[in-house]
Amino acid sequence: MFSRIAGTGRYLPEKVLTNFDLEKMVDTTDEWIRTRTGIERRHIAAEGETTADLAERAARAAIDAAGIEPTDIDFIVVGTTTPDVVFPNVGCLIQERLGIRGCTAFGLEAACSGFMYALGIADKFVRSGESKRALVVGAETLSRIVSWSDRDTCVLFGDGAGAVVLEPADEAGILSTHLHADGHYGDLLFFPSGVSKGFNDLKSGKDFVQMKGNEVFKVAVKTLGRIVDETLEKNSLDKSAIDWLIPHQANIRIIQATARKLDMPMERVVMTVQDHGNTSAASVPMALDVAVRDGRIRRGDMLLLEAFGGGFTWGSALIRY
Ligand code: COA
Repeated sequence: MFSRIAGTGRYLPEKVLTNFDLEKMVDTTDEWIRTRTGIERRHIAAEGETTADLAERAARAAIDAAGIEPTDIDFIVVGTTTPDVVFPNVGCLIQERLGIRGCTAFGLEAACSGFMYALGIADKFVRSGESKRALVVGAETLSRIVSWSDRDTCVLFGDGAGAVVLEPADEAGILSTHLHADGHYGDLLFFPSGVSKGFNDLKSGKDFVQMKGNEVFKVAVKTLGRIVDETLEKNSLDKSAIDWLIPHQANIRIIQATARKLDMPMERVVMTVQDHGNTSAASVPMALDVAVRDGRIRRGDMLLLEAFGGGFTWGSALIRY
């Protein structure tokens, strides 16, 4: 038994923050942001709008696209680094809003790889027959944990949510998923405080995402190159078999490096970084949904999804759509 993607969905908050808006907030330029990252604009959650609000909208869109009712869902996993509250987890929050009772529902934290981890786990539940309809979400309100006076990071991130519904199938579907981490790189990209260690005063400017961008960049390019090889080898496939690359949307230059590794023209790479910025766990499912809904990705296409993020964590999935 395999799992296959039955439907996809996404939701982006209404407010758009452009590079020109950022020019008025920190010492930066549209030109610097565009040439170094590819980002032109990003969406930012409204005051009071939470990760669960975004996740619920994306989940409903994916459930509609799958042609099922919310109550058909029997497994919920939400990858997020920015949950509404410590608990109930965001999975439970959207379970309640969707009117579902009793099924497995949990949140999972693997930074920008959160959706890849969630997909890998949900795939195993569907394959084993334990779940018939799994809702897999990546959702973030990263804007709440970046310092809006730190130009090194605030220009990079955005908010949003993406979701897929998985169902059982006789043929793949999801061919393989690959999940990795290396905690030795924890100090290159991190959020310094939390419930157990203690929060600083958010207004003090100490509690925000911190990153050694240059070093993250180098490890990301190398690591994503390796996971692409691993994914192809596991399936005895040549890189020419991939129809679409759906990468984590952190930086256009990292994406271009992975595309070069696969000898893929950029027309076969789904790019949303210009419009979404880096939305962490939400980035891959939102990019997937964009290309499914605009008709580029069709049933039968071979997709390679990949992500890399803080931890470090990284993951990939090879999918016959
Ligand atoms: N606007 C203008 N200048 C900026 C800036 C901004 N928003 N942010 C940094 N700079 C400056 C730096 O202060 C530095 O100035 P200096 O040379 O006077 O010291 C200069 O630009 C170059 O900084 P550097 O960090 O070397 O730039 P870079 O080419 O490495 O690009 C990133 C920075 C963050 C875009 C790049 O390193 C990157 O994308 N890294 C990966 C980040 C990422 O994807 N993280 C998430 C992974 S999930």
